[in-house]
Parts: sequence; C-alpha cells; structure tokens
Amino acid sequence: MSDIWQQLETHRSQTADTPILSLFKDTSRFDSYSAETDGLLLDFSKTSLDAMAMDLLVRLAQAEGLDAKIAAMFRGDAINSTEGRAVLHTALRAQADTPIQVDGADVLPEIRAIRQQMQHFAEAVRSGDFAAVDGGRFTDVINIGIGGSDLGPAMATLALAPYHDGPRCHFVSNIDGAHIHDTLAGLDPQRTLVIIASKTFTTIETMTNAETALVWLQAALGDKAPDHLAAVSTAQDKTAALGIAPERVFGFENWVGGRYSLWGPVGLPILLAIGTENFQAFLRGADAMDSHFQNAPLHQNLPVLLGLVGIWHNNICGYGSRAILPYDQHLQRLPAYLQQLDMESNGKRVAQDGSPLPRASGPVVWGEPGTNGQHAFYQLLHQGTAVVPAEFLIAAEAHEPELQHHHNLLKANCLAQSEALMRGRSLAEARDVAAKRGLDGAEQQRMAAHLSFPGNRPSVTIAYPKLTPFVLGQIIALYEHRVFTEGMIWGLNPFDQWGVELGKELAVALLPMVEGAPADSKDGSTCGLLSKLTPRPAT
Ligand code: F6P
Repeated sequence: MSDIWQQLETHRSQTADTPILSLFKDTSRFDSYSAETDGLLLDFSKTSLDAMAMDLLVRLAQAEGLDAKIAAMFRGDAINSTEGRAVLHTALRAQADTPIQVDGADVLPEIRAIRQQMQHFAEAVRSGDFAAVDGGRFTDVINIGIGGSDLGPAMATLALAPYHDGPRCHFVSNIDGAHIHDTLAGLDPQRTLVIIASKTFTTIETMTNAETALVWLQAALGDKAPDHLAAVSTAQDKTAALGIAPERVFGFENWVGGRYSLWGPVGLPILLAIGTENFQAFLRGADAMDSHFQNAPLHQNLPVLLGLVGIWHNNICGYGSRAILPYDQHLQRLPAYLQQLDMESNGKRVAQDGSPLPRASGPVVWGEPGTNGQHAFYQLLHQGTAVVPAEFLIAAEAHEPELQHHHNLLKANCLAQSEALMRGRSLAEARDVAAKRGLDGAEQQRMAAHLSFPGNRPSVTIAYPKLTPFVLGQIIALYEHRVFTEGMIWGLNPFDQWGVELGKELAVALLPMVEGAPADSKDGSTCGLLSKLTPRPAT
C-alpha cells in the first residue's frame, strides 16, 4: 500500500507541470474521464489525472479492500467500531426485499412499518384529516433539530421546492434565541405543527428550542399544546415526557448516523412538503446509487471515482480544501449539508486502531451557489495562492421553462468558470489585454501580472437532467459514498463524531459562570471574555 502511495507521489512530481488543458490533445479524454449512471454524469476530465494516476488510485482502492468494505457496510456489519454499531442508512431506502440483518434480525420490516406510519401521518396532515386543535388545517410545520436532525431535511425541502404542495416548512436549529423568536414571530400557533427531531433527545439546542416552542403553543392552546407536537428520535422513552402521543413519535435505530438520517423519520418535513409519491422517488434515487456503488467496477463507479479524485487532490497534490459550487439555487443549502456529511465523518486524526493517521484526512469543505459565489470568493479560486479544487453541479433543465434565458446564462456561467479555472490567461495574453487598454512599457508589464491567471486549477462537474426527487436522492447518496470511499482509504472511522463532545461538556460547565458564578478555574482569555460578556460583581 505504502508502495502505491509512493508511486502516486512520484508520478505527481513527474507530471505536476503538465497543463490540464494539454491533456485534451487526447480527443477521447471527456469520454475516458467521465462516468454516468441513470442520467447522472460525473465529469472529472478537467483534473490532472491521467491513465497512470487512475490506475494507481484504483489499485490503492483495491489494496484497501474497498469492495469488501462496501459489502460489509451494506450487509450490516458493525463497521462503526468505536460505537460498536452497524451503519445502515442504506437500508432506509432499500427497494429490494432481501433481508438486512442486524444482530440476527431482519431490519426491513421495522423500517417499512415506520415509513408507513410516517406516510400515513404526513398524508393526514396534508389532507387536513389530522387537524389542529381548533379543527382547522395545519398550514405550517416547524422542524426543531440541529446537525443531522436539521441540515438534511432543511437542504432537501429547499432543493425540492418545485414539488411542494404541503404545509410550509420552517427549520429552527440554533440555540441563539433569535432563531426561534424570529421564526415564531411570523407564525400562528393555531395553525402550526412542531416536530422535535433529535436522535438522542438530549441535544441542548433542540431541547431548549422545544421547550420554548411548547410554551408558545401552550399560550394559545393550553393543555392541548402537545396535540401540535410530533417527535423523531431513537429515544422514545424521552419523548413521552413532553406529552407527545406515541402515534406521533417516529423512531429509528442507532445504526443510522445523524448526518445520514434524512432517509427515514428525520425526513418527515420533506414528506410533509412533497408527499408520499415524491418522497418514494427520492428514496429510489438513492437506492439506485447504492446499487451502482455496490456493483459497478471501481473505474466506472461514480462515488469511488469522486473519492479517488478527492484523494488525488488532497493527499497527492496537497490541496486541503474543496469548494462545492451548485449552479442551482434550489441546492443553496447543499454546501452546508455536505460540510457536516464530509467534515464530521472524515475530520479524524487517528485510524480505526487508534494509531495516528500517516497522511491528511478530510479536507475543508465549503461553498455557495453559483453565480453568487462568482461575485464573492471566485477571485481567490482564480488568482489566489491556494489551489481549491471546485465541484460544480448543474442541471440540463430548470423548473422555470418560462425563464429559459436565465437557465442558459446559468449554464454558460458554470461552464465558463470550469474552463477559466483550467485554461487561465497567460502573461502574453494578459499583455495583449493591457495593450488594448492603451498601456505600454513597464506599466503594460505591471498590469499584465495582475491580469494573468495561472489556470491549471482542477474541477469536476456533476451534471443531471433536472433536480427531481430521484436526482436529489442520487446526488446525496453519491456524496455519502464518496465520503465512505475516502474514509476507508484513509483507514479512519467515518461514522463517529467524538470531536464534538469536548465543546459540549465545556459549555455545560461554563453556563453557571456566564450566569455569575466564579470563573477562577478558567484561563485568562476565558475570564476576560466572561467579564466583558457578563459583567461580574467586584470580589
Ligand atoms: O453535534 C454532533 C451531533 O451529534 C451530530 O452528529 C448530530 O447530527 C447532531 O449533534 C444532533 O444530534 P441529535 O439528533 O441527537 O439531537
């Protein structure tokens, strides 16, 4: 294995000066360096990958036993080794009836029974059969959750806005009272259903926001307030304490990680917004990507290829960040969603056995929709000293046929950016531009330095026919399995998140100090900030 890493590094050092653009002398490059499944295309031809690099990367994946690790995940093995759990978000969307065993029992019947319960409830809310306390229809739903209990449904309901025919969905996550205050301010408690979504039902943000929402409901509905509550959790004992009727509690098992949970009960807001048929199509899209991930050969396997591109850029080229750039306004929350998926999964520094990782793991993930980002941070992408591999997403067809001109401009901009990143503008070309502006001599030379672009900056493009529920399911599953592929090659556990614990513990300890208790045990900075934020009585 270390031999393959070594060969990749040697190959990179020998080819780093080759412009990506020059690789297109091979007129079949686009076909050879792209892959497609069910209409979803991954183009990675605008990277520095060549045949030798691809061969080595695929050998790396084989040497890491990627095929066997994929099979182990889908089979239900306890691959989350630090928590002793299986990892079976894929079972939530499985379309086949092949049993999936955890601890000797098939989990599919339970998954489907809960989905039935969700669908029944969602359709009853949508039709008005499940009514508000005053007998009227629910017009609004607030999902209270954070992290995986917020980002997935928030991202997906926005992404599928053209399919909304159910109640309006609002999402409250932040402990900052401004979030729930501002959300409640625009709503009528008589018309509002509140979903409390928390895998553990202990997360301080969610529990605090839930209590505030309950008080708001109680002010209007009195002791009938719990009739406007539903809950999504693995901890069903705790949901009863809030008075939530068991038929409105949707459970899932601990083999579904928070950031992988939108396929099941955490997806309830999506189901409420778009209805059963569309939600089923969303699950089918993800399941189709699951089958592809399990069955396609590694060199034609989209999630594997996207993972290998990530390894190449991160570990071999040394680019420690990746930008997610959806040219699709409906995907405006995708970068935030992928930040959790990717960085909470692969932001690790030790291997499964606890030994330090020998090389870099998860990169920094960030982004914004195009074309907005073009007028904000693309300057750095084009001319900054750091190289940031870009990931573009674009649909062939928009949902607004009457605004075709907008979509044509969107597509042109998307293609222009990946071309500009790759092609750049040489110093000679920049001199011509400066000359056309009437500059000559030293001033022309000086300005040419500012007007030239280094180019040779890599990107991938994910292209799809239209952002339908099926396609959204494909895209999310593609990214989930990309994160898995990278995590397996790095040898870490992508399914725990111990790194978020310390801050939570310290916040609990700090609360009394924020409320005035002595802060002597704290460092000088924390004491200084405490006295600034919470003026303390002189001692
Ligand atoms: O902050 C870490 C985390 O545990 C995430 O992994 C999770 O998605 C989020 O908090 C919310 O957790 P819960 O659903 O248990 O409230």
